Amino acid sequence: MSDPLRIAIAGLGNVGSGTAQLIQQNADLLGKRTGRTLKITSISARDKSKDRGFSTSGMNWFDDPVVMARDNDSDVLVELIGGEDGIAKEVCEEALKSGKHVVTANKALLAVNGESLVSLADSNNLILNYEAAVAGGIPIVKAIREGLAGNNINRIYGILNGTCNYILTEMRLQRRAFDDVLLEAQKLGYAEAEPSMDVDGIDTSQKLALLSSLAFGTKINFSAVYTEGIRRISLLDIDYAEELGFRIKLLGSAQRIGAGIEQRVYPCMVDQSFPIAHVDGAYNAVVVIGDFVGNTMFQGLGAGAGPTASAVVADLIDISHKRQAPTLGVTLNSLISTSEIEIGEHIGPYYVRLMVADRPGVIADITAAFRDENVSIESMIQRSRSTTEAVPVILNLHDCKESEIQRSLSKISTLNTVIEQPTMIRIETLS
Ligand code: HSE
Repeated sequence: MSDPLRIAIAGLGNVGSGTAQLIQQNADLLGKRTGRTLKITSISARDKSKDRGFSTSGMNWFDDPVVMARDNDSDVLVELIGGEDGIAKEVCEEALKSGKHVVTANKALLAVNGESLVSLADSNNLILNYEAAVAGGIPIVKAIREGLAGNNINRIYGILNGTCNYILTEMRLQRRAFDDVLLEAQKLGYAEAEPSMDVDGIDTSQKLALLSSLAFGTKINFSAVYTEGIRRISLLDIDYAEELGFRIKLLGSAQRIGAGIEQRVYPCMVDQSFPIAHVDGAYNAVVVIGDFVGNTMFQGLGAGAGPTASAVVADLIDISHKRQAPTLGVTLNSLISTSEIEIGEHIGPYYVRLMVADRPGVIADITAAFRDENVSIESMIQRSRSTTEAVPVILNLHDCKESEIQRSLSKISTLNTVIEQPTMIRIETLS
């Protein structure tokens, strides 16, 4: 057997502990797969005394992960601290400057600082791997970077956040309230330390920015991702979606439009005839459409200790074999810049729910506002009747430009018969 691959782990939360458990439990298998021992030599976390479900015997403890990153006792540093800068960035930079390969699950760090870290890794001839940063246990980085490397990719879309998918699924199936399900997702270890990263769509945007760069060979452009989260999704809309043959999913989607790349994250109506509509719970799914391969879909758990540890260890195995594709799919200097496509330019069909006073003339005012912006209505539902309470009016709108819808809705929201702010949910056109 060759020398052991010596591993330092910075951060022993859910994923860090899961990674150590996997390395210890599957040691024989990993030995056969790599021809060497994967040995955790060093660990660092906030609390030394906590039992994390793995043996720390023979491991060096570091209170300061930056000191660990500089220490000579490891070949690879696994960064599982999280955060787009601060200590996580410092740890990765120090490790690369000290001649260590780096494995990270940190999408926030890479979405903002990815190119500078890749540059540092490249200039030191080191590997920077990040399979666990996108879609948890699904090997999507490897799939795009290696398995589908022969294709021009036209579009990539997916469910990239387990917490949001779990919340939307539980709301629909168990009729539970949003906050209640979020608490449970936190207990199950799916949610980020700061749950707004999940529910406001930011985690999905960070992952999409990375996938987009990999898929299209473009610079990572996180700030160009249009982002909305799921807080505004109500049980009423979930029910209407079902009735109309849709399901509401938080999707991240990136596609080439002319010379630009449209990158967007929002909850949307997905036609139930598409497999992705049926990906439920903490599962993620990614659809990649290539010019020769056609349509491919990858599905698996996107969050939690086990699936994320699985991705971290796959990266370690690659490092052990010195298997190295360009970190972002192409060399850093061949990444291209593309223009951002504003959400107002987006074209598609829309679902709109209005809560209105049930009085004569209301519908005429509403349809006039759409007519004035050239927006065409495909169907409308108004069912309940109440002289005292607002009643829902559901409209399905034909393909139109988002800016036209937005102008129509701002006029509609000023009508005194429209009781609440209109709810607009995009109907996603998939292939
Ligand atoms: N909070 C993330 C999720 C974890 O729910 O998908 C994986 O990035």
